[in-house]
Amino acid sequence: MKKISLTGIKPTGTPHLGNYLGAIRPALDLTKTYDAVYFIADYHALTTVQNGAEMRENIYKVAATWLALGLNPEESLFYKQSDIPEIFELSWALSCFTPKGFMNRAHAYKDKVAKNTAAGEDPDANVNMGLYCYPCLMDADILMFGADIVPVGKDQKQHVEFARDIAIKFNKHFKEDVFTIPEPVFAESTGVIPGLDGRKMSKSYDNIIDIFLQPKDLKKKLGKIVTNSQGIEEPKDPDSCNVFKLYKLFATPEQTEALAARYRAGGMGWGHAKAELQAVLEEHLGVARDKYFDLLSHPEEIDKILAYGKEKARVKSKAMMDKVRNLLGTY
Ligand code: ADP
Ligand code: TRP
Repeated sequence: MKKISLTGIKPTGTPHLGNYLGAIRPALDLTKTYDAVYFIADYHALTTVQNGAEMRENIYKVAATWLALGLNPEESLFYKQSDIPEIFELSWALSCFTPKGFMNRAHAYKDKVAKNTAAGEDPDANVNMGLYCYPCLMDADILMFGADIVPVGKDQKQHVEFARDIAIKFNKHFKEDVFTIPEPVFAESTGVIPGLDGRKMSKSYDNIIDIFLQPKDLKKKLGKIVTNSQGIEEPKDPDSCNVFKLYKLFATPEQTEALAARYRAGGMGWGHAKAELQAVLEEHLGVARDKYFDLLSHPEEIDKILAYGKEKARVKSKAMMDKVRNLLGTY
């Protein structure tokens, strides 16, 4: 039997190249060797997205992104977290086995408290209980489906470690291997993807490049990548250039070498470099982009695919909850 790779993406906005290179592409690569369980973590997004129309739109965008980039809902399990009520039941049960100190130490919460304190505010200002309990819901996501590995960004390492700790604790308590012990895995090769301004590409920095943009919009967006003020004739350093950093992640080694040589030789302006980046993005993502916009214009197709995933996922989640309820005596 194949091992299980599981991950979730929050529908908090339009998926960007950082999400693609750091999370989606590595997760899709794993579908060759693992059984994949990939889902849309909408109730995690609810800690910040609290508008129905916006949430719905984001869910469609994330679903269409996975599907357009090649996730096969027949071979993989693909669903929306909120469609699986057993996850929320398990989340509560697991929270009763989770030391409160874990949540106090969780990065997202700790960062918020540190920021509030530095600003002289109440430490818990603008912290909702969803943010505080976020890791418990993530434990349930992961342990419900027997994940062996969880491909995530480094920022999620601690959350997966919580899931490990709780799985071990629960299994020990009931003297039974109820939960598989999950392992986080990281896309080491890609590292942190820079955004338009060179900082980490992130929705919260407003420096993203969407995965799917029509050529005209993409050109405009790439025009905003910050470069230095060197003139066309000057030789340039590829390694310190954000355009080149992105190019390298899509181009073949030969293409990369060729563009680096053009940088070093001089006579090539930033506009040329950006046009090369656009060409390589088009080559990789052009077909998927057409599929993405096609799916978005047929949301009923996406609904159907998610309903199918829900049916398949609930066979597993119900079986897991039967086991858990039986141990808890709530059955
Ligand atoms: P954002 O920072 O835009 O809110 P998320 O936190 O929703 O992005 O990230 C979703 C996934 O994409 C995570 O696994 C995260 O590690 C990955 N990711 C996001 N931004 C980047 C980036 N700039 N470089 C590499 N991976 C990223
Ligand atoms: N917290 C993850 C993020 O912010 C998303 C997520 C929710 C997730 N549940 C998960 C990732 C379970 C992996 C496994 O990116």
